[in-house]
Amino acid sequence: MKELLLFLSCVLCVSADVLHEDIAVDACSASDGEKMFGLDGEEKAYADFNKQEMIYPQPPFVINPFHYREGTYEAAVANQQVCKQNLKIRRDAMKDIPLEHDAPSGVTIYTRDEVEFGEKNTLICHVTGFYPAPVNVSWTKNEQKITGSSINIPYPNKDGTFTQISRLQFTPQLGDIYSCAVQHLALTEPETRLYDVEASGQSDPGVGPAAFCGVGLTVGLLGVAAGTFFLIKGNECS
Ligand SMILES: *[C@@H]1O[C@H](CO)[C@@H](O)[C@H](O)[C@H]1NC(C)=O
Repeated sequence: MKELLLFLSCVLCVSADVLHEDIAVDACSASDGEKMFGLDGEEKAYADFNKQEMIYPQPPFVINPFHYREGTYEAAVANQQVCKQNLKIRRDAMKDIPLEHDAPSGVTIYTRDEVEFGEKNTLICHVTGFYPAPVNVSWTKNEQKITGSSINIPYPNKDGTFTQISRLQFTPQLGDIYSCAVQHLALTEPETRLYDVEASGQSDPGVGPAAFCGVGLTVGLLGVAAGTFFLIKGNECS
């Protein structure tokens, strides 16, 4: 037992020893641009070039929400100029080199929280392994298009592809079917995933297990009674 404990504590100390990964991304294409600060696969901050400000998508459990210093957004805009100039120089230099196109390697739909009928929840469409960014994600409910979803900006993966996550607030109701459809340059038609509330909901276990348990218990007790009966009978005979 001591050895086991020692082994377990070793595993713990090793896993507590990992480094954190802090990244800053400046990226651009002919039609799009991105500035993002990330930590361990999560967004810390990004530049919203439509709203013209930095956005800090930190969850409510962050105790000390932080902001970058004044001028961070303006620096991001300036970096976009540099990025676009560099991109143009390289495109001119490497004319006729075909662009790389990787369709998403993974599209997954799931809920943020365990499903309870009638309780607000979030549907998540997780798209990964694509290049270039971005993807478009659209949602349907019972085959009708719905709006109100959000999508985060592309997060770079270690292999040079990207991940994007689209979220939709919803209230699970029996019989509803949702879908997310992913559009990407390398896909000829959208890649679609279905989410069937009924199949995923926590259905009431009903009387099945209780009845099974009751019958099993009864049969067992009958067996014990019969055994005891024959034991006593046998003793009386001898
Ligand atoms: C995403 O949607 C925009 C706007 O409708 C469109 O211009 C763009 O081509 C779409 N991107 C992809 C990869 O389909």
